[in-house]
Amino acid sequence: MPAEHFTRFNPTHLIEPHRVRRQAFVDPAVFDLEMTRVFSSTWVFLGHESEVSEPGSYKATTLGTQPVLLTRDVQGALHVFINACRHRGVPLADDHTQGTCRHFVCPYHGWTFDPSGKLVSVPMRDRQASVFDETQMGLVAVAKLDSYRGFVFASLNPHVPTLPEHLGAAAEFFDLFCDLSPSGNIRVETGVTRYQFRGNWKQQVENSMDGYHPALVHHSFFEDVLKPRIGRGMGFIVGPQSPAKSVSLGNGHALIDFRAFDRKAILGAEKPKSEQDWHDKLRARYADRPGYADTVIACNGGDGFNLLVYPNLVLINNQIRVIHPVSYDRTEVFAYPVTLEDVAPEINTARVRAHEDFYGPASFGAPDDIEMFQRQWDGLLRTPGMEWLYYDRGLDQEEKIGAHGRQSHVSDETAHRGIWRRWLQLMQEGAR
Ligand code: FES
Ligand SMILES: [Fe+2]
Repeated sequence: MPAEHFTRFNPTHLIEPHRVRRQAFVDPAVFDLEMTRVFSSTWVFLGHESEVSEPGSYKATTLGTQPVLLTRDVQGALHVFINACRHRGVPLADDHTQGTCRHFVCPYHGWTFDPSGKLVSVPMRDRQASVFDETQMGLVAVAKLDSYRGFVFASLNPHVPTLPEHLGAAAEFFDLFCDLSPSGNIRVETGVTRYQFRGNWKQQVENSMDGYHPALVHHSFFEDVLKPRIGRGMGFIVGPQSPAKSVSLGNGHALIDFRAFDRKAILGAEKPKSEQDWHDKLRARYADRPGYADTVIACNGGDGFNLLVYPNLVLINNQIRVIHPVSYDRTEVFAYPVTLEDVAPEINTARVRAHEDFYGPASFGAPDDIEMFQRQWDGLLRTPGMEWLYYDRGLDQEEKIGAHGRQSHVSDETAHRGIWRRWLQLMQEGAR
């Protein structure tokens, strides 16, 4: 179906407190403005430091739709560059490749850059004119680069607030996610589950924070996998009596918070033998913080919460999920299972198997969500006669938490309303 052309576009016309116009998803002009006002304005997650742990290692990824290179130079410093040769713009590595190299050699005319971005060689250099100054022709660095707990973020906006200001209340959940390792370090080293769907990136953002759909979409998982294992079905996790919450943390960050209900039966279902050693190490490491080791163990990384760091990062179960917008009607998602440093191999093997069970291509989880993305997209594209999509669940029953947070029942849309508030703010004025 050809792209629809809307006659007017003003972000404030697209959203009300409890509803959003369908146009926000299907209008290519909205997508174009998102790439400027959202992805080129705020902090965007690019990768984890363990993916570029060696001098000369690199990861070619995207910041919004722009190709970028995350590199580590021979001194060990991290860099993020626009992935384009300074001569005529040819990318120096293909999107979504990674590895280790001493130099990036442009395949067109051979200009050569080192991992710190410096232009180190130009074939037939003596033919360059007097205006040519190689010291000014290094790769173009992004305006801002920072990391938290090894999670590397970049921004194209020199005036963006600091990364700690941006993360705000989300930061403590990175701590809970990483502190499950006795060294405090996680690793991204066991590959990736990668999928692409015909649809808009915001569908995956919303779904990652949606506690309303699992009872229906993941019915087979709850009834055929979980119930035989623990004797209880979906009701106690996402049903009316569940103490789990839909949370808006501020700045568009959001949470499905499962910490309030007792998940020991689930987490204890298949205990690796070395689990006790691991937990003893955690209690020793956090001996000066009474109760913290038990909090970390009870959360079991992102089992205790699904965290969205707006706009493109989700921590969920033991997974780092990265959402890549490709075009208004195409989205690619990378789901990296995360391993823990300083635990027995069987602990990490169990984590990777659990990832495959729910997020693999023939699993009980992700394929069902992707089917819903496709059906939703087919519906959105073909229904210009229906203008509004609804986000009112829990609006009358939210409670305030912290300085900027709100929460309500897990099946509510408190997280989604926070996401759309941030979207509107960025679409109006960018991050500053
Ligand atoms: S485009 Fe890269 S060397 Fe010419
Ligand atoms: Fe789902």
